[in-house]
Amino acid sequence: MKNIQTIVVDSKEQGAEKICGLVREELEAGRLHVLGLATGSTMEPVYEKLRASDLDFTNVTAFNLDEYVGIPATHENSYAYYMNHHLFSEKPFKETHIENGMAEDLDAECVRYETLLKENPLDIQFLGIGENGHIAFNEPGTSPDSVTHVVELTESTIAVNSQYFKEGETMPVTALTMGISSIMQAKKLIVAAFGEKKRAALEKLFAGEVSTEWPVTYLLDHQDVVVITDLKL
Ligand code: F6R
Repeated sequence: MKNIQTIVVDSKEQGAEKICGLVREELEAGRLHVLGLATGSTMEPVYEKLRASDLDFTNVTAFNLDEYVGIPATHENSYAYYMNHHLFSEKPFKETHIENGMAEDLDAECVRYETLLKENPLDIQFLGIGENGHIAFNEPGTSPDSVTHVVELTESTIAVNSQYFKEGETMPVTALTMGISSIMQAKKLIVAAFGEKKRAALEKLFAGEVSTEWPVTYLLDHQDVVVITDLKL
């Protein structure tokens, strides 16, 4: 696929190293001003490598893909907390943005976030992939025209992500997420997928047919996608 460059690695650590290399290239070429970030287990080794690197993000603005509704930034399962813990506490950015899942008016919050994104076009967007093919929290069935919106998480995503919540804690079933169109506007997409659980989603992508049921296949319509995976497909 001419628009998708695939880099096959032996491990997620090696994948993380590659991603850091791509970020370094863009940063040193003066092409990285706005960086879109993702959370989740896939990104942890990436942030570990970025933290340990000498890369300087003090002139870079960061935007995160998504956030749960109803848990504050101080909650250890919020994505705001994740980002502070895994990256921002050690790597200062010029500015960091994430949707406010505690906003009283969630629709207004989505409009605010999308406006900020339009004012600060993404140079690179990191993406992980859900087992059900979601990107950010754009679950199967999401329109390609979607912008930042409120989403009800699917059973599959709740089942996968509930492992991170402590016993007795209820996992939010609602989230705010950049839409497909918000993501597709990024100049470059760096997609990481490690482990067998991501095989079905990657197979759909490489099958080359866009399907609403597998949001990851929307990436087929983007001009500059790099997929980093340890799966041999
Ligand atoms: C995270 C996000 C999600 C994850 C995906 C994979 O901000 O938007 O789409 O990238 O669910 O999660 P992990 O990496 O935990 O397998």
